[in-house]
Amino acid sequence: MAERPFIVGNWKMNGTRAMLPEARAIDRAAQRQMKVEVALAPPFTLIHAVHREVEQIGVGAQDCHPAKDGAYTGDISAAMIADAGAKFVILGHSERREGHGEDDALVAAKIEAALGAGLRIVLCCGESLETRDSGRAEEFVLGQLRHAFAKVVDAGERLTIAYEPIWAIGTGRSAGLEDIAAMHGAIRRLVKDSFGTQAAAQVRILYGGSVKPENAREILALADVDGALVGGASLSAESFLGIVHAAIDDDAA
Ligand code: PGA
Repeated sequence: MAERPFIVGNWKMNGTRAMLPEARAIDRAAQRQMKVEVALAPPFTLIHAVHREVEQIGVGAQDCHPAKDGAYTGDISAAMIADAGAKFVILGHSERREGHGEDDALVAAKIEAALGAGLRIVLCCGESLETRDSGRAEEFVLGQLRHAFAKVVDAGERLTIAYEPIWAIGTGRSAGLEDIAAMHGAIRRLVKDSFGTQAAAQVRILYGGSVKPENAREILALADVDGALVGGASLSAESFLGIVHAAIDDDAA
């Protein structure tokens, strides 16, 4: 695991201002420990409110548009989310790729826009069950990343990668430990080949897909797993902090 693991909550399309006490509770707990970096990506409508409520945790967005501004009704630019207080943006999530037809070229354009606006990125990759069963999971995931890396100018700490097998997201079924370890190892090698040894040590590779307090410890203990991207279990401070604490304990072990 990385020197400072990174636990990111992805609230997806959940949360109104009634959720702000959860963000505050997560922030208070994060203030009491510095060993783990904690962040939340609420929906666009809550970025500014969460940013104002918290002191320690990072706040991010779940998507951005590739253009700087213009006639794009309903869209939000990277500069706008930065202005609202976001420090990072999740890009290429499978729910965007599937539900909004985002392909590798669009994800790459968004990466360029986000980095240009000074944001860090949490870049998601992951295969479908069909691809895994056909034995091409690694080839597929590394292919997604190669496309994306073409737009990453300065890897290091500005780039975080989240490996999320699609069939493990929101299903309660996380990937097997061996499969996670093998994929994370392959991703680390690709980062090294693409950006060099120093970047390979700095870029954090998160696992996502049904991470919960009960399975976090064994997943976070894997060599190339530097943290977690958490959906469902990030919606309550209690379960999210259970995962944060698993990262602290693992670090101390
Ligand atoms: P999940 O979602 O933890 O609810 O499986 C993870 C994600 O999609 O980021």
